[in-house]
Amino acid sequence: MISLFGKKKQTIQQPAAIGQPSSTPTTQTQLQQQPVGQAAQRPAIQQVVRQQAPISQTQMYQTKQKFAKGLTSIRDIIAPSLVEVDFDNIRINNNYYRTLFVAGYPRYVNANWLHPLLSFDKSLFSSMYIYPTESKVILEDLKRKIAEMEATIQVDMKRGKVIDPSVQVALDDALALQSQLAKGAERFYQFSLYISIPADSIEELNRISKEVESTLGSLLIVPKHATLSQEDGFKSTLPLGFDKLDVTRNMDTTSLATTFPFTTASLTANSGILYGINEHDGSLVIFDRFVLENANSVIFGKSGSGKSFMVKLEVMRTLMFGAEVFVIDPEGEYRDITRVLGGDHINFSFNSPVKINPFDLSGIIEEGENELGLKILSLHGLMRVIMGDLTPGEDALLDRALVLTYKQKGITPDPDSQKREPPLIEDLYKVLMGMEEENAIRLAERLEKFVKGSLAGIFNQKSNLSLKNPLTVFDIKELEAELRPVAIFIILDFIWTKIKRDVKKRLMIVDEAWYLMKHPDSATFLYGIAKRARKYYLGVTTITQDVEDFLSTDHGKAIITNSSLQILLKQSPAAIDKLAEVFYLSSGEKHFLLSAGVGEGLFFAGASHAAVQFIASQQEYQLATSKPSDVVTENKV
Ligand SMILES: Nc1ncnc2c1ncn2[C@@H]1O[C@H](COP(=O)(O)OP(=O)(O)OP(=O)(O)O)[C@@H](O)[C@H]1O
Ligand SMILES: [Mg+2]
Repeated sequence: MISLFGKKKQTIQQPAAIGQPSSTPTTQTQLQQQPVGQAAQRPAIQQVVRQQAPISQTQMYQTKQKFAKGLTSIRDIIAPSLVEVDFDNIRINNNYYRTLFVAGYPRYVNANWLHPLLSFDKSLFSSMYIYPTESKVILEDLKRKIAEMEATIQVDMKRGKVIDPSVQVALDDALALQSQLAKGAERFYQFSLYISIPADSIEELNRISKEVESTLGSLLIVPKHATLSQEDGFKSTLPLGFDKLDVTRNMDTTSLATTFPFTTASLTANSGILYGINEHDGSLVIFDRFVLENANSVIFGKSGSGKSFMVKLEVMRTLMFGAEVFVIDPEGEYRDITRVLGGDHINFSFNSPVKINPFDLSGIIEEGENELGLKILSLHGLMRVIMGDLTPGEDALLDRALVLTYKQKGITPDPDSQKREPPLIEDLYKVLMGMEEENAIRLAERLEKFVKGSLAGIFNQKSNLSLKNPLTVFDIKELEAELRPVAIFIILDFIWTKIKRDVKKRLMIVDEAWYLMKHPDSATFLYGIAKRARKYYLGVTTITQDVEDFLSTDHGKAIITNSSLQILLKQSPAAIDKLAEVFYLSSGEKHFLLSAGVGEGLFFAGASHAAVQFIASQQEYQLATSKPSDVVTENKV
């Protein structure tokens, strides 16, 4: 349009050219003018041209707007066909909305105090606006207010009146706040909270409004209807960030922090077992540890905090879902649940009929795994636990002796040979005695206890144990404390060898795991199992009260990192700092663990964690309790 106009203008400046034959080559401009052709029409042309005066930007914009108005926009499509703004509600199509604003807040609040509102079982639109405020302005205000209140008190005193306690409380609050602000420990904010309630009918709207108001009332919050400002109220609760109501309340940083809505992770799943109650929101903690990247768990807590009790509950409940459970029980406290659940209770004492041969091989050939090599490695670890520290020379000697012991029975790295009858500790003893080196005799002597001594009955015999029962408990209470690490090692190795034969959903519980952590070789062994358990559908539960020892070893830390489920129960002040460092605990969580009651703790499952109270039914309690008072007085099931 502009270019055409420009060319016409050009024509007017050269009137002589119109209507006359031209010798010059015909330009585009001239071609356009040729139909006009005659001198008589010249004034008309000039008139038309003059009418088309230059169009300004504004005119252009207006024309464009006019044009756009005629088109259908997205807004036309999504806009409601009706918006009716009433005194106390707003209707959009067939939906009704009512906005409430909060006019009064409680004096004291706890963390997550808004949770009942945020987890209200109807959908609500709620919005919070937070405006940082200059502390300086607030400080000046406070100064004035404090002076006023002090004056009121002074006047009362002079008149001999009793001081109004509410003024005294307000004055104390103001003074405390003043000092916090002046120190910079707190900052000041203005906070507003609005809630829009959606409903399908006006009756429903009234009903839900009442429910919301009573929920808020129970939190000591005073809500008000945004009467005559329902439209602004509705807009303020849309996710647009426009606070059109502007009803604010002063808050310091601490109070504001308590309104943070996402402090708890819900641990209620559709599958799994019940662990307890989430202390933040009262929801059930139902969880399947086998859905995590590994099913291992660690449980830490001081003596009597409820570790074994919680694990007993887990065992009872897990068994219902068809998993197998093995328990290493150094305290003999799983006897009752084993009896009632029909499990195998294996008592390790000197005259017990149970035998375990630590030289057993699984007989399973796995691609890329040398079964004999792995077995010799674990026996090596076991021997070091039995014999104590070895010099490098003794170590090499022991290695040779182990290989030789198997060789004498015809067992070599060839998988077919590994189905043969395995040797016994006695055979290793004989091999060591038969070796020429002086050191070998000394090693043999250290082994003698297991061959001829008190433990010969259990560990120097062919295994006669089959793990058929879904619940098998290995009770080693009757063994001397110094033999327990050896016994746990041998039992774990035995279970591990059997587990590899057929893969099933299983739990292996090592109670009082600090027995194993005392010796680096048994710690390495436990870590090795925890690391490889996932491939065999096995979850290893490690329970210990000796947190410091556990955390001070690399293997202890590695077991924690290889356990997706971590449970911390009540802790002692001595252990808490180290624990806080490893588990990244906040100061609130530290405080919680120091003051936790029995059976109360933190539950870390993958990324989510929550404070949990582990709960038992009365029957479960009677089976799981180990309190002497309960055991003596209760007539057990
Ligand atoms: N969740 C719970 N609910 C009710 N009572 C509990 C709970 N947890 C533990 N108890 C009580 O506390 C006692 C001690 O708990 P538990 O035997 O589990 O301690 P522990 O942490 O294993 O201690 P230790 O390290 O000495 O073995 C239980 O026998 C039981 O009576
Ligand atoms: Mg215990």
